[in-house]
Amino acid sequence: MKNILVTGAAGFIGSAFVRYMVEKYPQYNFIAYDKLTYAGNIDNLLPVSDEENYRFERGDIAERGAVRRTLQTHQIDTVVNFAAESHVDRSILAPDEFVMTNTVGVHILLDECRLHGIGRFVQVSTDEVYGDIETGFSVESDPFAPNSPYAASKAGGELIVRAYHITHGMDVVVTRGSNTFGPYQYPEKILPFFVTEAIDDNLLPLYGDGTQVRDWLYVEDHVTGIETALFKGKSGEAYNVAGENQQRNIDITHRILKQLGKPETLIKHVPDREGHDRRYAMNCDKLRALGWQRKYTFDDALEATVRWYQQNEWWWRKIKTGEYLEYYKRQYAARLAAAQE
Ligand code: NAD
Ligand code: TYD
Repeated sequence: MKNILVTGAAGFIGSAFVRYMVEKYPQYNFIAYDKLTYAGNIDNLLPVSDEENYRFERGDIAERGAVRRTLQTHQIDTVVNFAAESHVDRSILAPDEFVMTNTVGVHILLDECRLHGIGRFVQVSTDEVYGDIETGFSVESDPFAPNSPYAASKAGGELIVRAYHITHGMDVVVTRGSNTFGPYQYPEKILPFFVTEAIDDNLLPLYGDGTQVRDWLYVEDHVTGIETALFKGKSGEAYNVAGENQQRNIDITHRILKQLGKPETLIKHVPDREGHDRRYAMNCDKLRALGWQRKYTFDDALEATVRWYQQNEWWWRKIKTGEYLEYYKRQYAARLAAAQE
């Protein structure tokens, strides 16, 4: 393993992976490849931009020619694929890009990798492929039951990856991460969205009663989970990367407001997300058996994350303009108006 292609590297988790790996493994070259959609942000890679073992290339995983050129130019032998449309609410408003990138794009990237003859291919997936689970914990052998267009398109990508392993004998590993939080997360996901809105004293639109449960994982622990699967995972296997830390949306919202010293009157219960999954929770013994361990507690990681958004307005203020405001209006204007009545 020498030349590692990281696709979707300018996003939230992909960039955290690159920042961590470039520093830790100077003996490998990291080629960051990203289409730079609305969620891709080259600022996320600034900390490594001058490193010798790092390069950036703009490109789409669904474009064969571009993928092929990159694989050949850099003699890529390993791929870690983070590239995705990643926000559930957007997949309800505009699903086409989700299927194009998360299913078709994975297929094209993988097929070019097969033709090029790469070694290991890691597909970064999500706990949302298991769907809503009322009780207990999802294990890797559970059936898929995705409920949103986002989750279904990620499940589609995983199935293609599995098929290439069985049919063509490709060396593939899948990781399924739980809800991830930390610095550099695009402020449409609940945590950075609520923190940055609360800083500006704006209302926080909490869907439904706010008692939905997510399993929260700090981004740096997610990154080491993927690192473990990359180096130690068994070919053809999937590994859950869980925070083992279930929290209700309403409780997280209270904690954010408390840390920022903002009033609870900012919380606005709004009409629910369509098809809203009530609970995700996973068992991650399989990854632990490979030696993976989380390093961060939820309390410390949440506090550090809220502080990061307080201290890095330069990063998020320029995002919250243009397309972002259009999306905000489409997603929240009618909901907030309905809640005011
Ligand atoms: P993100 O939206 O922040 O980043 C996605 C990146 O992919 C962006 O930089 C975007 O420009 C790029 N991209 C999109 N379409 C592309 C294409 N066709 N070709 C090349 N690049 C493209 O998402 P994230 O939160 O960093 O998620 C990364 C991966 O982890 C995704 O596959 C997601 O499904 C998975 N995941 C995310 C979470 C989470 O809580 N955020 C949890 C589990 C799994
Ligand atoms: P989100 O960050 O979109 O992640 P996911 O849907 O992939 O789990 O949402 C996390 C939870 O927060 C989810 O139950 C939906 C809820 N939520 C709100 O209540 N209001 C919001 O404005 C957003 C974005 C999410």
